[in-house]
Amino acid sequence: MPNTDPKVIVALDFSTSEQTLKFIESVTPEICRLKIGKELFTSSGPDLVKQLVDMGFDIFLDLKFHDIPNTVNKAVAAACQLGVWMLNVHALGGRAMMQAAKEAVDSSNVVKPPKLIAVSVLTSTNQAGLHELGIDKTVQQTVIDLTKMSLECGLDGMVCSANEAEMMRKQFGASPILVTPGIRPAGSASNDQQRIMTPEMAMKSGSSYLVIGRPITQHAHPLDELNRINASLEVYRS
Ligand code: C5P
Repeated sequence: MPNTDPKVIVALDFSTSEQTLKFIESVTPEICRLKIGKELFTSSGPDLVKQLVDMGFDIFLDLKFHDIPNTVNKAVAAACQLGVWMLNVHALGGRAMMQAAKEAVDSSNVVKPPKLIAVSVLTSTNQAGLHELGIDKTVQQTVIDLTKMSLECGLDGMVCSANEAEMMRKQFGASPILVTPGIRPAGSASNDQQRIMTPEMAMKSGSSYLVIGRPITQHAHPLDELNRINASLEVYRS
């Protein structure tokens, strides 16, 4: 467990465990947490997760579970046994599904149960996309309503855009964990991200943790870049 409360979660968007472990040589659990998503988990599986947990890293297992309540309950229970620090579900899976996920965490019997957060509206979904799904509320209202439901189910927080963080803090106060992707240190390429924020701006807006991938993983000197980002966030470390 990192003792310095790193705010940066590095997105391990690699396709193999070899690439991942090579990158890991340049960082330590004291300076970052790590996110494993669908690509890496599908290629490298739970063994890699366990390996990284055993190395002392806090792992955010970003698999966005969305299924019938019983299946999600069992999947979350399995994730708890991997020793992950955080995991997530799709709020659109509904109240019963999220309650089943929460119940799995609460009964997991592990020393440190993971934090359970939800994804509301994917940033790739716009107003027209919501309409096609039969949702005629605005994107913002949908985010608010799904967040309200997630917190009522006892979840610890949400994945959201850093641009929404200030609004989320106004609506839901200080306690929910807000995990925000779409972060770009000043001077780095935006890649395919449309609306970006610097790490400092995102923390100032109310983010709890920042998901940062390519600006660190594709950097010629990942450790230097991570150290630079962490130095800019010193005031937010507890
Ligand atoms: O490389 P980059 O910093 O853009 O990576 C961002 C990470 O956050 C990726 O793993 C991406 O899948 C994830 N993410 C995102 N936007 C969302 C939700 C997740 O970029 N709305």
